[in-house]
Amino acid sequence: MKGIRMESFGNPVSTETLLSARERALVALETLVSRSGAGSEFTGWLDLPQDITSKDIEAYKECAQEWRGLDYVVVIGIGGSYLGAKAALDLLQDNFADFRKNDTPHLIFAGFNMSEQYMTDLLNLLKGKEFGLIVISKSGTTTEPAVAFRILRSALEESAGKEVARKRIIAVTDGAKGALRQMVEKYGYRSFVIPASVGGRYSVLSPVGLLPLAMAGVDIESMLNGAKQAMASLLEWNEENPAVVYAATRNALYESGYKVELLTSYRPDARNFTEWWKQLFGESEGKGGKGIFPASAIFTTDLHSLGQFIQDGSKILFETNLVTDEKGGEIMMQQMDDDSDSLNYLAGKSLEQVNATARKGVLSAHVSGNVPNINIETGAIDAATLGELFIFFEISCGISAYMLGVNPFDQPGVEQYKKNMFALLGKPGYKQN
Ligand code: PA5
Repeated sequence: MKGIRMESFGNPVSTETLLSARERALVALETLVSRSGAGSEFTGWLDLPQDITSKDIEAYKECAQEWRGLDYVVVIGIGGSYLGAKAALDLLQDNFADFRKNDTPHLIFAGFNMSEQYMTDLLNLLKGKEFGLIVISKSGTTTEPAVAFRILRSALEESAGKEVARKRIIAVTDGAKGALRQMVEKYGYRSFVIPASVGGRYSVLSPVGLLPLAMAGVDIESMLNGAKQAMASLLEWNEENPAVVYAATRNALYESGYKVELLTSYRPDARNFTEWWKQLFGESEGKGGKGIFPASAIFTTDLHSLGQFIQDGSKILFETNLVTDEKGGEIMMQQMDDDSDSLNYLAGKSLEQVNATARKGVLSAHVSGNVPNINIETGAIDAATLGELFIFFEISCGISAYMLGVNPFDQPGVEQYKKNMFALLGKPGYKQN
């Protein structure tokens, strides 16, 4: 394990307040570890990395082997049932993997929206192609993936025939409950179980994330090993534990009036990782009128849209920067005889150096604009580091939510839109107000 390093810049909170926040973070860590806090029945994710057996891994890999010749695997799911796999895939695969011929099928994600345009385009893409479906839903009843599954299952049956289609559908769902589990039993689909004690946004290291990632050829053993080691060290009762320090720092900032946390990265392939992080923290903390609003930005891209506000707008936010070592040194800026673009001053620097220098310049500018910054340094991103990073944020999130006094593992607020939508769509049992 490489270990996560944290550093704070321009933090206006006094050392005394920060130390007292660390003490509260340690108490919250103890609540998490002893599984004695609110929602403790959903702390099964603490056991995930070690509970996934080599037999489980073999089973995911067998599916991957069997579907290797397919053109596409469509992964259907929403929220915690898709963001982790999407985040990992983007970070671990080549940025342009979707445009290349690979020796594994291309993964396409669906069921995370209800746009007819998206579905039309997807059905057009799948026409005449060999594809399989992985449908992921813990409850087995979530509308968006259920709608997508109904449409895509028909398309698959039409193109491959019912019997082949049956073998090209894998369901990942609860072991006993929900419509999807019932369909597994009725149609004999292959299936994997999401443990009842693991909530959606904490499920990336279960079959929810591991099966799609195995399909794409990701080294899931390394990811689990990274996660296992991180779990052991980040649950330690230790004031220097980075998960404790991060949770304490962000909570102290929140209490000092910084209500928005902006997770930034200087690599575009981290955009979906920031989406995974937003869902993790947003659904875990935002309740009872409390919580830090999680936002994200990819720099330097978003400096050209959000940069002005961050530097000079309302002082409501702090930044958390995901600092990773990137492949660098191969693309060098050249000295040109014709310096019409006035870039000769960069000659001899690699593109990576230019990007890293931009990061340093932005950090000092934002700090001077009274925006507190936290750097989270991970080293180079590979499957093991990513396993570690998932665990780092999950543990930090559990600690943070307990510090706020909310249940990290429920999401009561999500129900309201569903009730309204069901009533408007005429779902039996739902009435319009
Ligand atoms: O974190 C959560 O529990 C949610 O975001 C769920 O992952 C999301 O709502 C999808 O639920 P399900 O897997 O039941 O379809």
